[in-house]
Amino acid sequence: MNIVLLGPPGSGKGTQSRFIVNRYRLNLVSLGLILHKKSLEKNSSYNLINNYIKTGNLVNNKIIYNNLKNYFLNNNSLIGYIFDGFPRNLEQAKFLKFININYVIEFVIPDRVLIKRLLGRRIHLKSGRIYHLKYNPPKVKDLDDITGEKLVFRKDDNLRVINNRLKIYKDELFKLKNFFKIYNFKKNNGYYIIDACKNINDIYTNIISIIG
Ligand code: AP5
Repeated sequence: MNIVLLGPPGSGKGTQSRFIVNRYRLNLVSLGLILHKKSLEKNSSYNLINNYIKTGNLVNNKIIYNNLKNYFLNNNSLIGYIFDGFPRNLEQAKFLKFININYVIEFVIPDRVLIKRLLGRRIHLKSGRIYHLKYNPPKVKDLDDITGEKLVFRKDDNLRVINNRLKIYKDELFKLKNFFKIYNFKKNNGYYIIDACKNINDIYTNIISIIG
């Protein structure tokens, strides 16, 4: 089974994809997480990727494909994949022609709600575990529940960059929706829209009711 989660920044894709991975034993494909980790490494791609992330612009497709290729070489799954925030544009969507996508789930949420979420987000960088100061706090303030290591801000979680990320998402969404409108889904599979304003558990229940 292969699932795509589409949604603006802060809509909860990362949070939900981790639950879904655990429940269905899918492999998580999160280019955001891969790129954030790369942006911390001091190698040749560091500056380039870091510049994209810091401004909120989409990383160019060539870098995305190389990272995807590497990911699939090292993370082969017989059960399937969940794509968190991929594809981001039409060019990337064409890659999915080689994969049978069962479900696309679009998260819909007003800007003011997601901005509150992003400004209160903290993450554990090594694992990608996601917290929120108020809505999903760690057991001990500012520390990761599992390792006890310090939680950090994401460098792209500030208002100026959030606005750019949002604009890019909205610009590409229409084209992506058109792509999936004519996508050849199998019977009982398809494109679903969910209300991402609900609390984390209700959204999870909603997603499970779709996937089964
Ligand atoms: P990426 O890391 O994928 O960022 P994003 O798509 O902007 O999404 P976010 O991770 O910000 O939000 P989310 O929807 O996962 O929300 P989360 O669950 O964390 O990408 C970062 C950058 O990498 C991009 O800008 C781009 O530069 C590059 N990139 C990535 N993929 C790319 C691609 N394919 N092509 C080109 N470039 C690419 O939740 C947010 C907060 O809300 C958390 O604090 C969480 O605890 C809280 N929360 C979650 N759900 C709820 C809820 N229901 N109620 C209350 N709080 C909640």
